Amino acid sequence: MDLQVKDGWIEVISGSMYAGKTEELIRRVKRIEYARKEVIVFKPLIDNRYSSNEVVSHDNGRTKSIDISNPEEIYQHLNGRLPYAVAIDEVQFMSSSIIDICEDLADCGVRVIVAGLDKNFRGEPFGVMPDLLARAEYVTKLDAICQVCGAPATRTQRIINGKPARYSDPIILVGAKEQYEARCRHCHVVLDKPHAKR
Ligand code: TMP
Ligand code: MG
Ligand code: ZN
Repeated sequence: MDLQVKDGWIEVISGSMYAGKTEELIRRVKRIEYARKEVIVFKPLIDNRYSSNEVVSHDNGRTKSIDISNPEEIYQHLNGRLPYAVAIDEVQFMSSSIIDICEDLADCGVRVIVAGLDKNFRGEPFGVMPDLLARAEYVTKLDAICQVCGAPATRTQRIINGKPARYSDPIILVGAKEQYEARCRHCHVVLDKPHAKR
């Protein structure tokens, strides 16, 4: 029997906005760097809120990253060499091919750390996140603080011109404090949410 512990697994960091997902991703990346192991950080090009070629948390923590417009670019950047770890922030924005790429890297011995929103502003699963959450060996679900009542917040409220966004609004709208608040289930409002979707 081979009792040797092998490297290679998937870690997901999920939760609402302002829950500290990027902060936690940066913390894991820094620990890997302190251990003098190689980690390469990617983020989707779509997220240009704070900085390009850097992952930046809401509390201004930062680490270098490579902006990619599609998941296949990860292989181009690795160029046949496998680092100890690959970290991806804002993974909810990536297309579905990221799922196989994460599985493939983990199978090949890479520690894969991904962070993303588990739910969109409608309170429904966001893109590839359900798949990644199901496939991951390790899941960390973080909560924020509800900006209305102070309870633990598991959802993200989108606000447009001072009013809750409508269910029919587009899923993708890059932004921060001007458009989004952390809310608990009970304070989260989606205008015109179809009853069947509740
Ligand atoms: P954050 O999780 O690092 O705070 O960033 C989440 C990003 O996702 C931010 O740019 C806003 C965006 N977003 C959407 O595009 N659609 C949504 O439904 C939600 C909740 C956030
Ligand atoms: Mg973030
Ligand atoms: Zn609340």
